[in-house]
Amino acid sequence: MIESRETLQRAFERAFAGLRQGREASVPQLAPRDVGTITNVSNGIATVAGLPGVGFEELLLFPRGVSGIAFNIDDDEVGVVLLGEHWQVNAGDDVERTGRVMDVAVGDELLGRVVDPLGRPLDGGAPLDARERLPIERPAAAIMDRDPVTVPLQTGIKVIDALIPIGRGQRELILGDRQTGKTAIAIDTILNQRGKDVLCVYCAIGQRASVIAKAVAMLQQKGAMDYTVVVVAEGNDPPGLAYIAPYAATSIAEHFMERGRDVLIVYDDLTHHARAYRELSLLLRRPPGREAFPGDIFYIHSRLLERATHLRAELGGGSLTALPVIETEAQNISAYIPTNLISITDGQIYLSPVLFQLGVLPAVDVGMSVSRVGGKAQRAPYRAVAGDLKLAYAQFEELETFARFGARLDEANRKTIAHGRRIRACLQQPEFAPVAVPEQIALLLALTAGLFDDVPLERMTPAEMAVREAAAEIPPDVARRLDEADALSAADRAAIVDIARQALTGIPRAADRPGSSTEPGKVAGEKA
Ligand SMILES: Nc1ncnc2c1ncn2[C@@H]1O[C@H](COP(=O)(O)OP(=O)(O)OP(=O)(O)O)[C@@H](O)[C@H]1O
Ligand SMILES: [Mg+2]
Repeated sequence: MIESRETLQRAFERAFAGLRQGREASVPQLAPRDVGTITNVSNGIATVAGLPGVGFEELLLFPRGVSGIAFNIDDDEVGVVLLGEHWQVNAGDDVERTGRVMDVAVGDELLGRVVDPLGRPLDGGAPLDARERLPIERPAAAIMDRDPVTVPLQTGIKVIDALIPIGRGQRELILGDRQTGKTAIAIDTILNQRGKDVLCVYCAIGQRASVIAKAVAMLQQKGAMDYTVVVVAEGNDPPGLAYIAPYAATSIAEHFMERGRDVLIVYDDLTHHARAYRELSLLLRRPPGREAFPGDIFYIHSRLLERATHLRAELGGGSLTALPVIETEAQNISAYIPTNLISITDGQIYLSPVLFQLGVLPAVDVGMSVSRVGGKAQRAPYRAVAGDLKLAYAQFEELETFARFGARLDEANRKTIAHGRRIRACLQQPEFAPVAVPEQIALLLALTAGLFDDVPLERMTPAEMAVREAAAEIPPDVARRLDEADALSAADRAAIVDIARQALTGIPRAADRPGSSTEPGKVAGEKA
């Protein structure tokens, strides 16, 4: 009896020892996972409960590959902006924290690609295997890390390069009513960067897919995709995606800038961005302000555009030039979003629907457009003529209004009008046809020397082509000086004007036809 009890006890002891060993050997694998639950989903917004430690703008993961950004953080609830297929998530689904903010793939792999703001390819190509990622929201360069804007960014558009010059690192707003050629100016500027060592990022926000496809096809056809990244948030994407698109595109551009490259970024357009942010804010029940936009819309855009800059040489000397686009309604540039952006940027290019209808293309309204820093970066030969040109053009525009009422004009005024019409004709150009610097300077010098004044208006196109072709004859040493900081010497100017005069000898001359000064529509009807 006693013996059997001892055996039993030993058996128990062995069993317990085994259990104890097993318990000590196993180390519990504890991985903290903050998981909350969706309590409510509406258009692109989810409300999540049970995530007390979540940070502002933290990335959250939803089921079925949808992600979101924590936007409204309350005591017991988080308002989340959804970024993927938001119809795939339901109330009751789990939500997981990631502990990091939203980031995007950056690097050379992106050149030539069309991606969405999350870095997913939209061009049917292979997924990106970029090694580097950057947060989409990054602080702008500090004041002491910036250098003044000194190098011109040639757009290839005559009226802009001559009268509203843009410098590398500048922010120049393009604004105008719908269908006035805003996108055309941005795309032309990208096309003109071919062979100029400038990388481009085109960020399309809220546009129709067909319009974007057309722009990408044009970039491909002209060989501009080699140095361009296209970031797209389409019109039917959730508002969250439209909201992050410009920030993601800027991070992609900054990566190049921080490696010492000159980069151009186009936001086409920020009106759609502002609307997406307004939609999100209203859905998040933030109080609406002027024009129903949330109070922080100014900050939203200024913190985006502050990231455009020219870094100082010790930091590589790269630059980021920003061309934000804004659509106005009925030419009202004093609406909330346009005035905000005018005050944030370093100047604006205003496109007038009136000029567009008259066929003056590009429809840049020179009087309403300004470049606040680009003038210092402008090439000296332009600077030498820009002042005269602007003055002559402004005088012409004023007189033209008078002439429209059939006022009798004296000889001097008739001359001013004739000269002004030649300037306007010379500054017109079709889209997707950027003009090289020597050709532009030959044209402008010929124009200010009055060589075109007795060319009949209907012959302005062949006359202009003749001068542009003759620009190839500019002696190489003079052509080299066109790129230098110094103003052209009188001899160089005379040499170029002579070449233009020679080129124009083949063009038949005639005096301005009598009465033409009272027909303002006539110039406009002509395509130069
Ligand atoms: N310089 C130009 N010469 C000839 N046609 C032009 C020129 N610039 C623009 N266009 C034409 O004008 C139309 C409108 O141009 P674009 O799409 O660039 O305008 P937008 O202001 O961007 O329009 P939206 O408001 O729809 O974005 C297009 O059909 C384009 O081909
Ligand atoms: Mg457009």
